[in-house]
Amino acid sequence: MGKKIFSGVQPTGNLHLGNYLGAIKNFVDLNNDNDNECIFCVVDLHAITVKQDPKILKNNIRETVATFIASGIDPKKGIIFNQSSVAAHAEGAWILSCVARMGWLNRMTQFKEKAGKDKEKASIGLYSYPVLMAADILLYDATHVPVGDDQKQHLELCRDIAQKFNNDFKVDNFLRVPEPLIQNEFSRIMSLKDGSKKMSKSELSDLSRINLTDDRDQIINKIKKAKTDPLPMPQDVKELNHRLEAKNLLVIYSSLTNSTIENSIKTFMGKNFSEFKERLAAELADKIEPISKEIKKLLEDKKYLDEILLDGVEKANLIANKKIERIKEIVGF
Ligand code: AMP
Ligand code: TRP
Repeated sequence: MGKKIFSGVQPTGNLHLGNYLGAIKNFVDLNNDNDNECIFCVVDLHAITVKQDPKILKNNIRETVATFIASGIDPKKGIIFNQSSVAAHAEGAWILSCVARMGWLNRMTQFKEKAGKDKEKASIGLYSYPVLMAADILLYDATHVPVGDDQKQHLELCRDIAQKFNNDFKVDNFLRVPEPLIQNEFSRIMSLKDGSKKMSKSELSDLSRINLTDDRDQIINKIKKAKTDPLPMPQDVKELNHRLEAKNLLVIYSSLTNSTIENSIKTFMGKNFSEFKERLAAELADKIEPISKEIKKLLEDKKYLDEILLDGVEKANLIANKKIERIKEIVGF
């Protein structure tokens, strides 16, 4: 049976290789399978949990749509829309925030990381963010949610919220409890400058990530400058536990070439990093440069991108409004 897929990406600019290998590449495969119904959401309500420049945000929304399409998602085969244009997300998030418990949210590690030392100054939205994410998913009865490994905890929370709602209001299976789809080995791409930190849009140094808008020269240069260690390439998987930068580059290579880590290790064991880096840079440039060019081309046609969103919003509203009406009835409004 086909799956009902829902996932979201924040329009906060600088979409990078981690987003691509951890999430978007998987969206494309799921979207290509005609048995699946796919909904991909540009989560602009999530983006404003930290300060955004309004003018830049508007462009970043379009850039996220352009990235989906340039990566291979066919808008005719699924729904691409932005969250703030479907009011049911905000309404659903409020109702679910009365179901979710403080104790559950207090455990969320992403909030702790993003809020940093001064939690008192973090927005309330940043704290309740996973409840909005639960509303996103549950409004569409999604069966599967493809995400990177950093979102696993939020999905578990979503499952808890769905189950508690169903129990509290005695509506068995009304909110569908979704399954995460996380690509085990490749679900966390790390910074090119520090193998213990995840590749991230917010990292100051641009050399720490490959942006999906980088050109061939930038990609090759970033791989040349990527951190490694003085030893030759690893001989077996066990070595990767204490050679995080080597591990990350091998993960990236394996994911790009659809091979296993073990096979990639065999191909390069004992060789110098420089030889491996040359191969990796070529693979990356071949994969990312066409996407980068296509994003830039699509961004010149704002009208086309806006039309895709409008069409998606219309379709998403139909589904989400039905569900939120039932939710309101159930809670007694
Ligand atoms: P975000 O940009 O935070 O909205 O993330 C969009 C998607 O990319 C989510 O499914 C994340 O789990 C995934 N993602 C973000 N950063 C990484 C990374 N460094 N490695 C793997 N997946 C990532
Ligand atoms: N929180 C996700 C992230 O930061 C984005 C997101 C919002 C999402 N709503 C979602 C992902 C629903 C999957 C399903 O990456």
